Amino acid sequence: KPVSLIGAPTDIGASVIGARLGPGALRVAGIQRALENFGNNVVDRGDLTGPDNPMLPPVDGYRHLPEVIAWNQTLHDAVFAELEGDRLPITLGGDHCLAVGSISAVRHCRAAGKKVLVLWFDAHADFNTASITPSGNLHGMPVACLLGHGPDGLTSMAGATPAMRHDEVRQVGLRSVDQGEKELLHEVGVECYDMRYIDEKSMRKVMQKALAGVDEDTHVHVSLDLDFIDPVVAPGVGTPVVGGPTYREAQLCMEMIADTGQLGSIDIVELNPALDQRNATAELAVDLLESLFGKSTLVRMQR
Ligand code: ARG
Ligand code: MN
Ligand code: MN
Ligand code: MN
Repeated sequence: KPVSLIGAPTDIGASVIGARLGPGALRVAGIQRALENFGNNVVDRGDLTGPDNPMLPPVDGYRHLPEVIAWNQTLHDAVFAELEGDRLPITLGGDHCLAVGSISAVRHCRAAGKKVLVLWFDAHADFNTASITPSGNLHGMPVACLLGHGPDGLTSMAGATPAMRHDEVRQVGLRSVDQGEKELLHEVGVECYDMRYIDEKSMRKVMQKALAGVDEDTHVHVSLDLDFIDPVVAPGVGTPVVGGPTYREAQLCMEMIADTGQLGSIDIVELNPALDQRNATAELAVDLLESLFGKSTLVRMQR
């Protein structure tokens, strides 16, 4: 499938700034060339534009809500256009609030057709709401918004509300979940694999479970928050949390997704080049993308 790169240079949903520099750093790390080397047709659509980050305090539990809605509506439209053209869109973030726009577009486009499975790789659950958020930062709320718990402007972007059901998303790598979101997560019943579960069962087992049910009729969306990976390996993120997966564990996730052949769209988010070491985290993101597109050391039998 032809691939489209869509830059979304913003940190509007965060309070640590710098994710606005993410798309540029991914391009410097050679994202387009790396994917072309796998025989993909890759077009870089350049950067979307949107409101500046005014760095204001939260209002009624949300920081920068109108600006977050504006960025997401623009991204929704861009991702939707690529999906309609039967291309595979990769959103180059930007902070994780952008997943509202990209995943709403997947739902909007596939509403009548395919099943959707969102694989959410993150140290955080991103399941806060205005009443329980400790920060007001909207990058801590996209999963809640997509499941219908959020402000109108972010819950109705896919036309129908909610954009996804709780059984259409699986979370991997959790190790920082706020008290309120922990309760909501359990109440709503999202399937999640935290670090203890990964340690006890192995990443292979976790991914077998996370990918259960994926068939020819499934659109798999990967939402990769780079703080998923241990900050020793991926230091260039705004909200690092110790105790994350290793390079190889993260790569195995991507390889197992590639094996399904059902990858349909991707978010690469929360890269903060201002906090990175010699672009290592951007280069890691490109390595992981190569694995997602089927890079393999040896010739392997499928499954
Ligand atoms: N749970 C914290 C909050 O709501 C941190 C969220 C971090 N999210 C992220 N996408 N990095 O503020
Ligand atoms: Mn995170
Ligand atoms: Mn829509
Ligand atoms: Mn996140």
